[in-house]
Amino acid sequence: ASTLGAAAAQSGRYFGTAIAASRLNDSTYSTIAAREFNMITAENEMKPDATQPNQGQFNFSAGDQIYNWATQRGLKVRGHTLAWHAQQPGWMQNMQGSTLRNAMINHINGVMAHYKGKLAAWDVVNEAFNEDGSRRNSNLQGTGNDWIEVAFRTARAADPSAKLCYNDYNIENWSYGKTQGVYRMVQDFKSRGVPIDCVGLQTHFTGGSSLPGNFQTTLSSFAALGVDVALTEVDVTNASTSQYAGLTQACLNVPRCIGITVWGVRDSDSWRSNENPLLFDGGGNKKAAYTSVLNAL
Ligand code: XIL
Repeated sequence: ASTLGAAAAQSGRYFGTAIAASRLNDSTYSTIAAREFNMITAENEMKPDATQPNQGQFNFSAGDQIYNWATQRGLKVRGHTLAWHAQQPGWMQNMQGSTLRNAMINHINGVMAHYKGKLAAWDVVNEAFNEDGSRRNSNLQGTGNDWIEVAFRTARAADPSAKLCYNDYNIENWSYGKTQGVYRMVQDFKSRGVPIDCVGLQTHFTGGSSLPGNFQTTLSSFAALGVDVALTEVDVTNASTSQYAGLTQACLNVPRCIGITVWGVRDSDSWRSNENPLLFDGGGNKKAAYTSVLNAL
């Protein structure tokens, strides 16, 4: 196959990218994105601050721009994200207690109703753990330790067709405290019937040439709990070809690793643009890392 999406499809997987609505009329950008990828995540446009800027007033204009652009080209869309400590609208930031709990539930219901039946998956909860595997302190955590399961139960009822994912960074190394904390939560949810279908590993790698310890074991261990896994926001310092090939191979080696998404198209589009972490350079040319991924797929 000659594109990332087609190559991933050979094994039933997808290859995706994050898209920024503001860049869609850049034809270099949109041409590469539509050619190479078959799964799209909105980089910011479906986050709480974008979708409910004022309490009770939902705004889907930018999210829909990305959704429509993608689906008109036959590309699928992942939803990102519903409950997160960051990128909350101002009105939500100082809320607490039952007021915030109800606002979270209303937000999930409002956004998921709009996209009901349309999205492949939702990152229901994003980045809820500390590095040591304990829960991150946030206004959401302050509403009670059960906030995550309430978010997932609300999401399942709101759109039974969307796969429901927990998404986080620094959960790639199997020996790491945060990985173990998320693992224990998924194990607990599965044992108690809390609806969860997938774990998203953001996969923001920061240099070196080898993968975080036992990366593939992390993928297979989550999968063994009965969830799919996906690499949801991949970028790698200086686009190390060995790390890009290795993370691709690790996903291919795990049957329930369903796809890989890179967090942007060109280096110049990246939130880490000074690290040149993506598969296309600022001119839209394929980098060595692109070839290493394509060959591994
Ligand atoms: C980042 C975007 O790329 C930036 O444009 C924005 O300013 C901040 O958020 N983890 C996530 C993503 O789950 O939503 C973040 O995206 C990167 C880290």
